Amino acid sequence: MYAIKQRAFGGPEVLEFTEAEQPVPGPDDVLVRVRAASVNPADWKIRTGGAALPVDLPFIPGFDLAGVVERIGDRVSRFRPGDDVFGMPTPFTGTYAQYVRAPAADLALKPAGLDHNQAAALSSVGLTAWQALVGIARIQPGQRVLIHAAAGGIGHIAIQIAKAFGAHVIGTARTANHGFLRDLGADELVDYTLDDFAAAVRNVDIVLDNIGHEYGVRSLATLAPGGHLVSTIWDHPGVTAEDVARAKARFDTVQVAPSAPDLKELGKLVEQGRIRVHVADVLPLRDAAEGHRRSESGRVRGKLVLVP
Ligand SMILES: NC(=O)c1ccc[n+]([C@@H]2O[C@H](COP(=O)([O-])OP(=O)(O)OC[C@H]3O[C@@H](n4cnc5c(N)ncnc54)[C@H](OP(=O)(O)O)[C@@H]3O)[C@@H](O)[C@H]2O)c1
Repeated sequence: MYAIKQRAFGGPEVLEFTEAEQPVPGPDDVLVRVRAASVNPADWKIRTGGAALPVDLPFIPGFDLAGVVERIGDRVSRFRPGDDVFGMPTPFTGTYAQYVRAPAADLALKPAGLDHNQAAALSSVGLTAWQALVGIARIQPGQRVLIHAAAGGIGHIAIQIAKAFGAHVIGTARTANHGFLRDLGADELVDYTLDDFAAAVRNVDIVLDNIGHEYGVRSLATLAPGGHLVSTIWDHPGVTAEDVARAKARFDTVQVAPSAPDLKELGKLVEQGRIRVHVADVLPLRDAAEGHRRSESGRVRGKLVLVP
């Protein structure tokens, strides 16, 4: 099969389009013929060798996929060959390829309302947004929710999950993205290049911080007493225990985990028309390096998708 392989850590040029061994599914696995994988910031953080997630060389990058089940392991009963599936399979690598060996427990049937590109794009950011807002923050109707990097992969799905739960949603994004985000349901938007969100936003029940670093401590200022800061930037959330105590806030980080039940919940929202997935561009797999360059610019609206 063809795949993108990394034999060294470094810049986008270390992503090599090459032949690789087709993986063999174990008894609890399926072999998926990949129709689409998506680019995640974690891919280029891992690519440089500087990520907190350790990966041994050589490896095939890529967190999430959508595709067609080609073969099933002896103990797999949830899927049959020919099923369209999506998800973020353990071990968080390997989807920049024509075929992937995936634990059946990590995948779900692709919602009929999404094509493969959109389903691949939804997988890991959808799981992250769901696990942060629903699993950790236990979002409730009427709550005020602030979402940073609202126009990004996680952000644009998080807005829609929060709206589906009846929240009032505030997002940070450049003005160029405000129309896009209003269409997805955002109630208020702050252009962080023009206004200080920490001064402009108050009385928030949940902050979903997808930026971290100095955004962490500034976000505490927006919270109502007892409000909850949830950071996806678990390695650099930008807050200390003292900061959190002083703000009388709650604080958690999220580390996304594979979950077929959570994928099914996301699929339900898709089928109800409550989640739309924005694919900014679709690139051939051999152009993964270009995908990384664009993602690293921090300017992608929604998601970039790679097609083998
Ligand atoms: N903890 C976990 O399990 C987990 C899982 C997935 C991802 N992550 C991490 O979460 C972060 C976000 O991931 P993502 O996939 O959503 O990223 P992304 O799609 O690359 O985010 C791009 C968006 O960020 C916005 N942006 C850039 N700088 C901003 C700023 N200073 N303030 C507000 N918005 C800004 C841009 O919109 P504008 O042009 O409007 O600025 C752009 O649309 C990454 O660091 C990623 O590694 C963590």
